Amino acid sequence: MATDQIPEAQTSLGVSLHGIGMVFEAGGKRTEAIRSVSATMPPGRFVTVIGPSGCGKSTLLDLVFGLQMPTTGYVTIDGEPVTGPRRDMSMVFQEDSTLHWRTVQDNVAFGLEVAGVRKSERRRRAEAMIKLVGLSGFEDYRPRQLSGGMKQRVAIARSLVMEPRILLMDEPFGALDQQTRWRLGGELTRIWEETRNSVLFVTHDIHEAIRLSDVVWVMSERPSVLKTEMIVDLPRPRTDEVLSDPRFTQYAAQLWELLLPEIDTTSEAVSR
Ligand SMILES: Nc1ncnc2c1ncn2[C@@H]1O[C@H](COP(=O)(O)OP(=O)(O)O)[C@@H](O)[C@H]1O
Ligand SMILES: [Mg+2]
Repeated sequence: MATDQIPEAQTSLGVSLHGIGMVFEAGGKRTEAIRSVSATMPPGRFVTVIGPSGCGKSTLLDLVFGLQMPTTGYVTIDGEPVTGPRRDMSMVFQEDSTLHWRTVQDNVAFGLEVAGVRKSERRRRAEAMIKLVGLSGFEDYRPRQLSGGMKQRVAIARSLVMEPRILLMDEPFGALDQQTRWRLGGELTRIWEETRNSVLFVTHDIHEAIRLSDVVWVMSERPSVLKTEMIVDLPRPRTDEVLSDPRFTQYAAQLWELLLPEIDTTSEAVSR
């Protein structure tokens, strides 16, 4: 790739997107999902990506994770170009990704097992993580015995136990009802306030975005550009009381104002 194609290269630490664009060609159809997005996510921040359905949020996460390569531009982590999945990154998906035949304990320890970590050490780390996500007492349960919210806690614990520097989350609470979603968001905030790893979190829920984030990246409709980076200046820990902070309401109004023009009700966007 010629460097003169790259609009805005940056070299800061953390995750940097350098003029990334993504065009899909499938079955004779060309879809320009993302057009020239440049942004930097400094280490140890909680950054949320919000945007209309089908605008390219999942694609953006795939590009950071290295599951796909952008058609233009590139992604760097600590200045190094991403060429494929890295051991210090982990992804949590919206759909149930638990291993149905394994217990909670063995689900959480799975990645450690693959990495060849000793059994006693696996057990210790998995138990600590199970406790952190509030699943103590359920170690021997199998996923079918758990609610949707509990399964997502298992998925989060399975990612966190690997101590990723960067955690990517693609609408992890998207399949849950609103109350469970809000409660799990609260728990994620609490956990994150302890671990302080870098998180890139995709959602279409305005309240969830504000509650969780240091920064919200607002994406436009396809071909998607980064419309705004909104800094969320609310105190931590972010307990439920954040709801009654007048700034919360102001941020929500701002996000609605930014997103409403992007919602094209005639579009037949396919999203995942
Ligand atoms: N592998 C693919 N092949 C063809 N088109 C794709 C592929 N992945 C995503 N797209 C298209 O790119 C656009 C963005 O998709 P996606 O990133 O899933 O959106 P979002 O997660 O914001 O809802 C959509 O129009 C989708 O149909
Ligand atoms: Mg998606």
